[in-house]
Parts: sequence; C-alpha cells; structure tokens
Amino acid sequence: MAEHEQFMRRAVELARSVWGTTHPNPMVGAVIVESSATDSEAPGTILAEGATSPDGGPHAERVALNAWREDEPHYGATPHTTLYVTMEPCSTEGRTGACTDAIIASGIRRVVVGTLDPNPAHAGRGIDILREAGIEVMTGILEAECRGLNIIFNHWITTHTPLFAAKTATTLDGRIACRTGDSRWITGEVARADVMRWRRLFPAIAVGAGTVMQDNPRLTSRIEGEEEWCPIRFVFDGLLSTASRLSTRGLPALYTDEFKHRTIVVTTPHGGLGYVRQLRERGVQVWVLPSPTQRVGWAEFRQKCAGEQIFGVYIEGGAQILSQLLREAQIDYLFSYQAPMLFGDDRAKPMMRGLRTERLGQAVRLAEPLHTILGDDVLTRGRVVYPNDLSLDETVFSHG
Ligand SMILES: NC(=O)c1ccc[n+]([C@@H]2O[C@H](COP(=O)([O-])OP(=O)(O)OC[C@H]3O[C@@H](n4cnc5c(N)ncnc54)[C@H](OP(=O)(O)O)[C@@H]3O)[C@@H](O)[C@H]2O)c1
Repeated sequence: MAEHEQFMRRAVELARSVWGTTHPNPMVGAVIVESSATDSEAPGTILAEGATSPDGGPHAERVALNAWREDEPHYGATPHTTLYVTMEPCSTEGRTGACTDAIIASGIRRVVVGTLDPNPAHAGRGIDILREAGIEVMTGILEAECRGLNIIFNHWITTHTPLFAAKTATTLDGRIACRTGDSRWITGEVARADVMRWRRLFPAIAVGAGTVMQDNPRLTSRIEGEEEWCPIRFVFDGLLSTASRLSTRGLPALYTDEFKHRTIVVTTPHGGLGYVRQLRERGVQVWVLPSPTQRVGWAEFRQKCAGEQIFGVYIEGGAQILSQLLREAQIDYLFSYQAPMLFGDDRAKPMMRGLRTERLGQAVRLAEPLHTILGDDVLTRGRVVYPNDLSLDETVFSHG
C-alpha cells in the first residue's frame, strides 16, 4: 500500500504541475511503473509520466502512454506494469478518444485509481470497462487528495454552473477592515502568496466597487518565477461609481493596465449608458444584466457565467458583496484566511452579515474542512453547506 501511495503522490504532483491550465478538463496525473518480476520488496521504477494537456488536449493517461511508446527500450507491458492515475479513466469518445480503450490496447494489466469520475453519468463506468477487459483495478488510493485537486471541475460537472468561491482575510474576531477601511494587510506574506496560487486556478475573480475604490487592486496572479497571469476580473458596480471616476481623478488600475480587456464590469440598466459606452471605448468589457434594482442578482450572474463557459469565480469581497452572496446561499466554497489579530471594534467591517441565526442548527457550515497553516495565519477552506431554514435579518439590508 505504501508503494501505491508513493506513486499516486507522484501522480498528484504531476496533476498539480498543470494547475489552472486545463479548464474545462480536470487536472489529472498519471504514472506508468514497472515492478521487479523477482523481488516483490524491490521499489518499482517509473517508466513514463503524464498530466492533462491544456485546452482540451490529450488526457494524462494518453500523455503517459505516448511518452512510454516513444521510449523504445522500455516499451511493452509485462504482468508487472501498473498505471497509476489520479482520476478514473474516461470511457467516452470525446475529442481525444476513450482512455479506457488506450489502456486496454497498451496491454497494461493493472490500474490503480485515486478517485472516481465525479460525473454521476460516468462514475464507475471506466472501472467496469477495464475490469471486463480482465484488468485488475484498485481504487481509492489517496482519494481525498485526488478528489480535492478538482474542486472547480467537480462542481461544474455535477451542477453545470460555475463554482462560486468566496475568499476572506479576517482578524480572529471576523473583521475584514478597520472602521476607516484600512485592510492592507491583515494576513502575512505566506497567506497572500497562497491567494496568488488560487487566483491562478480560477478562470475569473470578482470584487465589488467598494473594494476597487478603497484598494485599487490589480487582481492578477503574481507567483515568483512565473509570468504574471490575469484571470477575467469582474467588478460589481450597479451604479457605475467606479466609471464616474473616468472623467475625474485616478482611474482604477483594472481599467487602465495592460490586462484591461480582461476586466468585465457587471452592472444594471440603472448605471447609465454613457459610462457603459466610455468603458467599452477604453477596451473594458461591460455586462449589463437586467435587474429591477441597482444590484445585479447573483443567480442571474451565475447563469450568465455558465452560458459564457466560465467554470469558476474566486470572489474576493468586500463585505457587501459577500454578505449578499451568503444571504442568497450562492457561496459554494469558502477560503477563510485568519490572522492572529483582533480589532475589538464594533465599527470595523465584519466579513459577512445579514443572517438571523438563532440556533446552532441554523449555522452555515463547511463540509470536510481543510486547515493549512501559512506563516502566522491559518486557511480554513471547504464546501459551504446551508441549513434548510436559512433565515434573513431584514433589518440589515432593508435598503436592498
Ligand atoms: N480582508 C479582506 O478579505 C477584504 C477583501 C476585499 C475587500 N476588503 C475591504 O472591504 C472594504 C470594501 O467592502 P465594501 O463592503 O465597502 O464594498 P464592496 O462589497 O467591495 O463593494 C460594494 C459596492 O459594490 C457594488 N455592488 C454591491 N453589490 C452589487 C451587486 N449585486 N450588483 C452590482 N453592484 C454591486 C455597489 O456599488 P454601487 O453603490 O455603485 O451600486 C456597492 O457600493 C474595503 O475596505 C476593502 O479593503 C477586505
């Protein structure tokens, strides 16, 4: 078992090497290993490796099989050859052909799988096909780790909507900014570097107009040794108050930098067509979504993202945006970074508000939470589970 875990760990590493580049496909890693024919205690040797190709190219299993085929002296399956793969091989033709066919044709007789295909229409089918072809299949090796590689894909394939993940950086008493708005930086460098990795994973980031005005963020992923990456950057601005700065002072970086064509301002018909035109003339995109009020509805935004094939949105706040999402039960996943400091000030901005929680049973919870220590800070993350009787405090948002 230890050997299986060792090779599966390598497959997980390979999957991570293509972090954020494989949408709409999941990140998968595969390793082909030859064990000794005479000494069952001897460590196996890796013959070939693969990871999912970007942009709908060959899957990890095929990449590994092709690399193996090209390595003449080591090509050719024996009874001691094993394929390790982080996710169940696909069994449908798709763009690249079924991986189960390629595995059967390769002559490999043993396959070790991390996690099943999350798509309920396919889960277990690839395993059955391999077994029917006489291949020994083991499942569930490093399962949680393998499944956790693909939070965005797993959500998309089961709901056909993007994963809405909220990110917050708070004090121990749950505040995201001082009463003055000062919030840079609550968390330390290590936690902020971790945020950069998640920004690289998600196809899109979203913030509210308040955050743009207060912090003027760049919202790119800056990782040492890698080229700066810019996801789609959504700015929620129902009345286009950020755009009204176009004619006055200090334009937000999101509307002027070299990635401005990746900025999409999300607004309503109440924001003013003049500003919409000005933004578009600058090369900034604008989505005007129908809404009876100055607020864009999150369900409408989700639907629009799904239509545009945007598979996940990393929502970085601020407080107003996150509170709305919580009240509408629209946060699917939470990344909560907590710093060892306290404000103890009622007028400091709370992370989220607007619920009426009278009993512990009404609490919003994280399923299978993961905790990571990042320098002095702690990241808690997990899938958000809402109570059946989510109750709103109408006194908090009476103005919408
Ligand atoms: N610590 C952290 O993790 C963190 C993260 C981000 C921000 N922050 C801090 O949070 C503060 C900003 O928070 P905030 O609550 O003031 O502002 P915010 O949530 O960033 O933005 C609020 C503004 O966004 C627009 N808006 C909100 N909901 C909308 C919707 N559904 N559709 C369209 N537009 C919508 C509104 O603009 P209109 O009035 O024009 O309609 C509103 O004024 C800053 O101090 C920032 O530094 C902290």
